[in-house]
Amino acid sequence: MSATTMARSQLASRHRAGALENRIQREPAAFRMLSGDRPTGALHVGHYFGSLQNRIRLQNAGLELFVVIADYQAITDRIVAPDLPDVVTGLVADYLAIGIDPRRSTIFAHSQVTALNQLLLPFLSLVSVAEISRNPTVKDEIASAGSSTVSGLMFTYPVHQAADILFCHANLAPVGLDQLPHLEITRTVARRFNERYSPGQPYFREPEALLSAAPLLLGIDGQKMSKSRNNSIPLRATADETVRLVTRAKTDAERFISYEPSRRPEVASLLLLTALCRGGTPQQVADEIGGGGAAALKAAAIEAVNGRFAEVRARRAELARDPGYLRTVLATGNERASAIADDTLRAVQELMHQRY
Ligand code: TRP
Repeated sequence: MSATTMARSQLASRHRAGALENRIQREPAAFRMLSGDRPTGALHVGHYFGSLQNRIRLQNAGLELFVVIADYQAITDRIVAPDLPDVVTGLVADYLAIGIDPRRSTIFAHSQVTALNQLLLPFLSLVSVAEISRNPTVKDEIASAGSSTVSGLMFTYPVHQAADILFCHANLAPVGLDQLPHLEITRTVARRFNERYSPGQPYFREPEALLSAAPLLLGIDGQKMSKSRNNSIPLRATADETVRLVTRAKTDAERFISYEPSRRPEVASLLLLTALCRGGTPQQVADEIGGGGAAALKAAAIEAVNGRFAEVRARRAELARDPGYLRTVLATGNERASAIADDTLRAVQELMHQRY
């Protein structure tokens, strides 16, 4: 996707967001949404305010929610570690602790849903190498990985992501800006499949992106907060760990605390985090702290995070004591997803004249 196409699709998504929210409120049951995460570490406060909170809100409004643990995406740029099963059940515990309800929502790992993965092959035939190479998110990831070799999976994972979304006929994907190019590929795959193989009666629907107004929280090193960068405040951190992490957070040398996101990004991010946790605006937090300096700012952030997540953390600690239950939740989700994926693959093969 070119820069202008990208900008246009961002604008279009923002424009549609209001109308989409209205439809969601009016007929929540008309939506099946799919969202997910790579199992590369613990979910953190940045995910929570950027995306997880929105998923829970929509689930609770009555939308059907599928959550993919994208374990094949996790190997686009790294080798699977032997503790992956614990990382995966740890994610399930995070999801349940923040309020994803396994009776209403389906949590699954895409490696366990065989038919989903098979959809990748016909989907790959529907996009060109040039289209994939223009994907700005993949370009960024390749650049920041800084490695000279790019795996075939790294290159094609946006098409695999189309399978994550289309196997269950999701029509809504709540995503951040970086995921918009992938959603465009998903829409392209759906549209081309329909044009080629089911022209009279479109088989796949083109999912809408619901752009979250994701506030960008920085990690304690001042870079983007990331599960795999070791700079995050995990949801599951204890109160004491939170003290240690926030105390180490990078700030600047100015005594007086002010909210100036472009000039003072690290201070602004702590103000934002505090405001998100307790309600109110970062500006209000800054006014309150003023001459108290970085120490008072960090104390406020620690208190806000620990207050906001105390209950979630208690619930998570309880869940972590029962790994058998977490595995059952995942196995049930995998089965539900597999039943749907089998149907979809069968229908796709029918339409492609590949049933013999
Ligand atoms: N690419 C997403 C991420 O890195 C994870 C993901 C996998 C996803 N499949 C998805 C997100 C489908 C939305 C829809 O966070």
